[in-house]
Amino acid sequence: MPRSDTTTGADITLDGVCVRYGGKKAPVTAVEDVSLRVETGEFVVLVGPSGCGKTTLLRLVAGFERSARGVVDVRRSVGVVFQQPRLFPWRTVGGNITFALTRHGVPRDQLRARAEALLARVGLTGMAGRRTWELSGGQQQRVAIARALATEPQVLLMDEPFAALDALTRERLQEEVRSLADATGTTVLFVTHSAEEAVLLGSRVLVMAAGPGRIVAEIPVGLDRDAGAADVAGLRATPDFSRLRGELADVMREAATG
Ligand SMILES: Nc1ncnc2c1ncn2[C@@H]1O[C@H](COP(=O)(O)OP(=O)(O)OP(=O)(O)O)[C@@H](O)[C@H]1O
Ligand SMILES: [Mg+2]
Repeated sequence: MPRSDTTTGADITLDGVCVRYGGKKAPVTAVEDVSLRVETGEFVVLVGPSGCGKTTLLRLVAGFERSARGVVDVRRSVGVVFQQPRLFPWRTVGGNITFALTRHGVPRDQLRARAEALLARVGLTGMAGRRTWELSGGQQQRVAIARALATEPQVLLMDEPFAALDALTRERLQEEVRSLADATGTTVLFVTHSAEEAVLLGSRVLVMAAGPGRIVAEIPVGLDRDAGAADVAGLRATPDFSRLRGELADVMREAATG
């Protein structure tokens, strides 16, 4: 991919990218002329109707798809949580985590404790010995999140990571991811269908439309996350939150219909 003058110091730069699937006979343009920049430490959320190319954009940033045109520039180490958990079924829950830790260079004598600590963070204490196929969909997804965190990525790509979780677990993990981003300065690009989740987590929301997939609106969030409303429940109770969620929901409805 050629570098152009528009390439900057951002963690993620997409400039005029276009992804097509299928052969020459029946090409599908999944995304067309998309440009975005994500700076270090930003928490950017992508929303939009099913099929508008959210997963495609994440796969492009992760390096799993190629753009037919434009610039893709990702400057730091990337961790991915896919829409489906994609665990190794021949490994235990703990084995999935220690595999990632080993690849990240964690010494053998620390693997078990580090894996336990990561599983505790996603609410799976004591599950290390279980088989992945013994877990529920939501539990598997939490293992996938722990596995992504194991490599301490500087850029975290998350594709509807909490969609399969019950409301309480989702809230816990929303807080976990948000405080991780705040504490470590991790850059996050996060996909969701939920206006509520987008406003809760994001510092900026990009709204996509389909046919072909493109970005049609950008909404800065700018909620005061430190003013005694740092937790999810507190933030949700503020008037600013309700207003932004309503505005975003309206823009999302417009993007989906029109
Ligand atoms: N491997 C593929 N081969 C052909 N077409 C594909 C492939 N993957 C995705 N597409 C098409 O590209 C478009 C964008 O798909 P993508 O998965 O990026 O959407 P999405 O916004 O993530 O949707 P959802 O919200 O349902 O997850 C869709 O029209 C889809 O049918
Ligand atoms: Mg998707």
